[in-house]
Amino acid sequence: MIGTDKLPQLVATPRLVYDLDQLDKNIERMKEIQRAVPNLTVLYALKASYAVLPYFAGKGIVGEVSSLAEALLSNNQLGGKSHAFCVAIKESDWEALAPLISHISFNSLTQGERFAARAVKSGISSGLRINPRHSVTPEDDYHADYDPTQPGCRFGADINELPQQLPSWVEGLHMHALCENGSVDDFRAVLNALEKGVGHHFHRLKWLNLGGGQLCTDESFDTGAFIETLNTFSKRHPHLSLYLEPGAAWVWNAGTLEAEAVDIVENNGVNTIITDFSFRAHGSDFLVGSAIKTLPLEVEGFTLVEEGARAASSPIKEHLYNFGGASCAMCDTKGVYHSDREIKPGDTLFFRQMGYYFDVTYSWFNGIVPPSTVFKRGDTYQLVTERAADQFIGTIGL
Ligand SMILES: Cc1ncc(COP(=O)(O)O)c(C=O)c1O
Repeated sequence: MIGTDKLPQLVATPRLVYDLDQLDKNIERMKEIQRAVPNLTVLYALKASYAVLPYFAGKGIVGEVSSLAEALLSNNQLGGKSHAFCVAIKESDWEALAPLISHISFNSLTQGERFAARAVKSGISSGLRINPRHSVTPEDDYHADYDPTQPGCRFGADINELPQQLPSWVEGLHMHALCENGSVDDFRAVLNALEKGVGHHFHRLKWLNLGGGQLCTDESFDTGAFIETLNTFSKRHPHLSLYLEPGAAWVWNAGTLEAEAVDIVENNGVNTIITDFSFRAHGSDFLVGSAIKTLPLEVEGFTLVEEGARAASSPIKEHLYNFGGASCAMCDTKGVYHSDREIKPGDTLFFRQMGYYFDVTYSWFNGIVPPSTVFKRGDTYQLVTERAADQFIGTIGL
């Protein structure tokens, strides 16, 4: 660990800084929930952040993985075997995947038929993902893009189209229906839909995986009601092991992206702060997917303002900025934000809540160097992963 004043020498911007005290709080919340619900294990869905894995290592956290590569990563960083949900497992991946996992949720009955007998031989418990077809996400919410409960969705067997009797290889059912959802009522609603739709199969199952998306580490989350809901459900089905697999909640509020304002470009009265990272290249879906308009940034000293605020009649005229990424993509921008001060080239900008679904999407588009990873406790820092321009050629395999 080194002191704050050394940070610029330690690692240049852009750097993604994780606050270890916040990660500790999040981990403790997960363990609290786990302790309070006897049959429950809260898995960590690796897809939310790879950068934090070295900190999660050795803390008894079990990974949930989406692919062979993530299973290798989980085994390497967290140790032990993980739970897997893969959209489609390739024949050529199975042999390598099998020794790394203890549970698997197949996305379709066909995938289960293909691999379940081999799963038994490897001591893996097999389950089937189902689509509970109960949406709690309003259509106009940007989370609707991520709502996997729509009819015809490619994830899971539709709850209304399951065979009367599930195949004998199905030892568990998996559903994932929430996205960044802090409402215990919504969680209870999908749980009720699951019980109503497939509760008659529960007696012959060993486990249920209730998916991720629960924002159980947010300050406003009603942990008591969540625990009560899980315990009430568990008491009705005491033979079932329960799993949750949140991702974002484990790293909630813990990651700040520190970036440099390299230039301020002024054209037609529009001021754009050009950063030394790229919204497009480094936060490809999370920041600039179809959510670009509605997903606000949390930037220290800045507030989001209405587009019309630039008009002459607006009371706010000064210090209005767009943010512009360093890439050539037109859509690599976010705006409009009001700053409490004038921004000058060389200033450091602090983008909060960049610790989830961000580092996992880094690309080297335009050769723009992705952020390095730094862990922080109080005002001391530890460099975890340094990224620099001389790594570029290696990453594209030339
Ligand atoms: C199957 C599955 N499980 C878990 C998660 C983790 O969700 P979250 O990070 O919102 O908790 C996702 C997210 O896409 C998912 O698709």
